[in-house]
Amino acid sequence: MACCGCNGKGNVAVKDVDKLDEILSKYEGIKGSLISILQDVQGLYEYLPEEALNYVSEKTGIQRAKIYGVATFYTQFRLDPVGKHVILLCQGTACHVNGAKAIEEAICEELGISEGETTEDGLFTLTNVACLGCCSLSPVMMIDGEVFGKLTPKKAREILKEVKASEE
Ligand code: FES
Repeated sequence: MACCGCNGKGNVAVKDVDKLDEILSKYEGIKGSLISILQDVQGLYEYLPEEALNYVSEKTGIQRAKIYGVATFYTQFRLDPVGKHVILLCQGTACHVNGAKAIEEAICEELGISEGETTEDGLFTLTNVACLGCCSLSPVMMIDGEVFGKLTPKKAREILKEVKASEE
């Protein structure tokens, strides 16, 4: 019986290993496919779990250092799990001029996290992004694909409270 989630060899077992194997077989023998592999792995787990990266290294023979180098170089890759609700807070010029910083402070205080972090309950991740393309509504944030514009710190807090309440 599994005791601690390890695979009996001292390594943490990889979740969904069959799907991970499918990804690896898709790129087998294709040179220069590391970024595509990592994109697919992130698509599977929503982030890049350490045990999955180690597994990719074992199976492909690509050194861990190289894999981590690529995973940390590109901002599209995440090494930590994201929350259930991802808040994209615009820091583009129009939003910046119209108070995005104050919105960020309100969100951070409301959730008890800093930008780039996930709340302990796993509900929210806050990520700053460049222009979301709806500058006339600045300052703007997007939660789960829905745009919230003309934000004030108070309004941002209320929106977060509503999302929290919907989870209770
Ligand atoms: S600058 Fe924020 S939406 Fe364009």
